[in-house]
Amino acid sequence: ENDIQKKLPLRNRKMIITAGPTHEAIDPVRFIGNHSSGKMGYAIAETAANLGAQVVLVSGPVSLSLEHSNIKVVSVTSAEEMYQAVHNHFSNCDIAILSAAVADYRPKDVASEKIKKNDSTLTIQLEKTKDILKSLGEIKEHQFLTGFALETQNELENAKSKLKKKNLDLIVLNSLKDKGAGFKADTNKVTLIDKHNKVQAFSVKPKTEVANDILQYIIQQIDA
Ligand code: CTP
Ligand code: CA
Repeated sequence: ENDIQKKLPLRNRKMIITAGPTHEAIDPVRFIGNHSSGKMGYAIAETAANLGAQVVLVSGPVSLSLEHSNIKVVSVTSAEEMYQAVHNHFSNCDIAILSAAVADYRPKDVASEKIKKNDSTLTIQLEKTKDILKSLGEIKEHQFLTGFALETQNELENAKSKLKKKNLDLIVLNSLKDKGAGFKADTNKVTLIDKHNKVQAFSVKPKTEVANDILQYIIQQIDA
């Protein structure tokens, strides 16, 4: 192994990374969203680019920005747009890491005009969005596919079942129960579970270091 391979172990690897929340329109001025900051996905993108990867970062609405010669940012708003953008780049990629907090449901009908307040209650019917990660698990060939699992109960068990159901190579369990973990924080605590059910727990650390732990794990797997 020469020096360049050691320093840039992701050289010549094409990656897709998703980050941030999605916004699902209710009417022209309102949406359903969540508190994802995008920090974890952006940290993974930047670290991967610094390790030599060519990165397509498909990002939902966040207040972060990233300029790097190895990163192309594709900005999207809704789960449907994220699905399309990810599928545009997947066949050509080697490693996909889907860290976005995609809305599971969206309004079934989007009102074309601002909804006026009338009755004391308002019901909005929701329909499921496409599961982007699962759809990749169904078509993947050579790609190394990584998902996240955000759990508040039965964490390991739920993460393992997502790994299996979505045909992943690796899942990153993100525990919201831990102090210093979660959406807004600059730190995170994760557990990696691979497709052989090997479990590796990490301590609370900055998201940039978590990004490196995840990428080093993947590098080890694809080089093995
Ligand atoms: N995900 C996705 N598309 C969706 C929903 C989720 O790609 N429509 C991805 C997320 O980016 C994450 C993984 O699936 O990598 C798991 O997301 P999570 O919300 O933890 O699990 P779900 O499968 O959505 O199940 P639930 O929310 O019911 O726990
Ligand atoms: Ca979900």
